[in-house]
Amino acid sequence: MSFLSKSTLLLLIVLCCTSFTSTEAYDALDPNGNITIKWDVMAWTPDGYVAVVTIYNYQQYRHIEAPGWSLGWTWAEHEVIWNMVGGLTTEQGDCSRFQGEIPFSCQKSPTVVDLLPGTPYNQQIANCCKGGVISSRMQDPSNAASSFQLSVGSAGTTNKTVKIPKNITLNTPGPGYTCGPAKIVRPTRFLSADKRRVTQALMTWNIKCTYSPFLAHKAPTCCVSLSSFNNKTIAPCPTCSCGCRRNNTVSRGCVDPKSPHVPGPGQKNIITPLVQCTSHMCPVKIQWHLKLNYKHYWRVKITITNLNYHMNYTHWNLVVQHPNFDNFTQVVGSKYKALTSLSTTNDTAMLWGIKHYNDVLMQAGRYGKVHLELLFRKDKATFTSKKGWAFPQRIYFNGDSCVMPPPDAYPLVA
Ligand SMILES: *[C@@H]1O[C@H](CO)[C@@H](O)[C@H](O)[C@H]1NC(C)=O
Ligand SMILES: *[C@@H]1O[C@H](CO)[C@@H](O)[C@H](O)[C@H]1NC(C)=O
Ligand SMILES: *[C@@H]1O[C@H](CO)[C@@H](O)[C@H](O)[C@H]1NC(C)=O
Ligand SMILES: *[C@@H]1O[C@H](CO)[C@@H](O)[C@H](O)[C@H]1NC(C)=O
Ligand SMILES: *[C@@H]1O[C@H](CO)[C@@H](O)[C@H](O)[C@H]1NC(C)=O
Ligand SMILES: *[C@@H]1O[C@H](CO)[C@@H](O)[C@H](O)[C@H]1NC(C)=O
Ligand SMILES: *[C@@H]1O[C@H](CO)[C@@H](O)[C@H](O)[C@H]1NC(C)=O
Ligand SMILES: *[C@@H]1O[C@H](CO)[C@@H](O)[C@H](O)[C@H]1NC(C)=O
Repeated sequence: MSFLSKSTLLLLIVLCCTSFTSTEAYDALDPNGNITIKWDVMAWTPDGYVAVVTIYNYQQYRHIEAPGWSLGWTWAEHEVIWNMVGGLTTEQGDCSRFQGEIPFSCQKSPTVVDLLPGTPYNQQIANCCKGGVISSRMQDPSNAASSFQLSVGSAGTTNKTVKIPKNITLNTPGPGYTCGPAKIVRPTRFLSADKRRVTQALMTWNIKCTYSPFLAHKAPTCCVSLSSFNNKTIAPCPTCSCGCRRNNTVSRGCVDPKSPHVPGPGQKNIITPLVQCTSHMCPVKIQWHLKLNYKHYWRVKITITNLNYHMNYTHWNLVVQHPNFDNFTQVVGSKYKALTSLSTTNDTAMLWGIKHYNDVLMQAGRYGKVHLELLFRKDKATFTSKKGWAFPQRIYFNGDSCVMPPPDAYPLVA
């Protein structure tokens, strides 16, 4: 057995065992990845305070896609929200104890969502109004945060009497993140636009949220199949990678693409995928095809297929680990960046779509595919046509690990 298959087996064993023993996810590719929610108190008011809440995505490659985040919390006392800029609570709640001016929200546990793009300028603040979409650090650091402002009433009016909200929940839009308790930190400092003056918040608290794939999805969400130009054998996505197909094809579990009942765009439910019937039942399939093997270079074609009728994947991304990435040459059809900021590996790269060209992986059907190509320069010291080397060690789609075929199914490349 080659080194790769041993190490892959080991990886599989480690993965399967950790998945049974723990829901706390340690991500070796992004060990410090977190989402931090910061509340900056900007002003005290006669009955409370005005705060700017900012959600920072400190994750290298995991983003929040449409229809975006929703943030919930439970007030410590009987606080209300008088008004909001750049966001809204989904419900007003029971404000019957108020006379005269009625608050914007009186709920004990409000849920806030972002405003949509195109919101009038006088209802915006910086970093708002992107429909809850937040980029990853690698893909677009300038869009890796989202803010809204709220004016809180019936609340403490000094940093000694203010009560910090509890039980913060972040949905994106489904589950996946666990948020810790709020911690009071040094007040945030703000640099003026001309960089000549620094102001600071009156009080700041932070909440750290971390991602767990086991919370986000009950089963994997993508799988990989491997092929090579010089061998007809294809290592397909393993059967039941993401779920097992039931016998009757047009069951509630999946849709036969040839059936006349292929769902139209009217039937949307973003959290539960509705997949094409396949043996692997994955919403997304990644095909890694070794296309050419030149003297000094080799070329790989990657095809991402969307098999989910419920989802257009906007700002999709792949994270690929392959030992040749430290000598990477060129990519066609997508953006590329090495995940070098991490000390643990330098064989991993992130790939994502080109804006207005293929940054949306359309729902299952005719257009539900994206192609890209990688051209590697051969490193004589490490390149080998031995079984397995030309194939990736792992692939993540949108931050979630894809199921790989077993090493003994790989096509021989020699
Ligand atoms: C969140 O991630 C950032 C960037 O990696 C890091 O600086 C920060 O300390 C992390 N926050 C917490 C609370 O761990
Ligand atoms: C509250 O404000 C006082 C000054 O008004 C400051 O000395 C103190 O550190 C503040 N406490 C917190 C928790 O921010
Ligand atoms: C925290 O919030 C969740 C969801 O809003 C709710 O189910 C849970 O009961 C809350 N827990 C506490 C202690 O308030
Ligand atoms: C599915 O089909 C297999 C063989 O075709 C059969 O053995 C099995 O009982 C069927 N299962 C169900 C739930 O119908
Ligand atoms: C995906 O985008 C297309 C074109 O914008 C739209 O017609 C379709 O309804 C969308 N599908 C979903 C599931 O949102
Ligand atoms: C990064 O790549 C270089 C060259 O292949 C290697 O010598 C080095 O050990 C690698 N660093 C890490 C942290 O893996
Ligand atoms: C990249 O490939 C060149 C040519 O084969 C080789 O000289 C160089 O050491 C390689 N770099 C790394 C980091 O492996
Ligand atoms: C193709 O790969 C399979 C599986 O590894 C192997 O058994 C077969 O011999 C290979 N065929 C060729 C022509 O190399």
